[in-house]
Amino acid sequence: MNKKVSELINTQINKELYSGYLYLDMSNFFESKGLAGFANWYKVQAQEERDHAMLFYQYLQNNGEKVTLLAIDQPDKKYKTFMDPLKAALEHEKYVTSLIDNIYAEAVKAKDYRTMELLQWFIKEQGEEEKNANDLISKMELFGGDARALYMLDQELAGRTYNTPSLVLD
Ligand code: FEO
Repeated sequence: MNKKVSELINTQINKELYSGYLYLDMSNFFESKGLAGFANWYKVQAQEERDHAMLFYQYLQNNGEKVTLLAIDQPDKKYKTFMDPLKAALEHEKYVTSLIDNIYAEAVKAKDYRTMELLQWFIKEQGEEEKNANDLISKMELFGGDARALYMLDQELAGRTYNTPSLVLD
């Protein structure tokens, strides 16, 4: 594999694992506030991020590259309001999108068509992740100020279940 592309994917494993950590921390915040539905939503999100990391991990190994596991940063954000994690999540997803786009640009440069194909799944996934984060902000803006509506929203988010990713790498 092209060295730069391989290195960026290796780093992306770490970024995805950090994303999982970040969402677990958000889940932990909502759990401590008694919003178990929000906590569930972010716990499922954390699982999805671990899946993303494992897809990149498997992809490198499938292409004969040895993975180097890097230290995962501690999530250090302090949340004051219920809206804070939602906005931080959207900003984070935008950042992850920029990372994926950057790897894609390097893969194009290296004429690495196989990696480009892999990344197309992630590019679509990032669109969905940003939309989900945006939708949650809209719902909080609409209903967050009313205790009964917030309770209903929390109930809705309690229904999110974990699904294995639509992309499978053997
Ligand atoms: Fe793996 Fe939320 O991006």
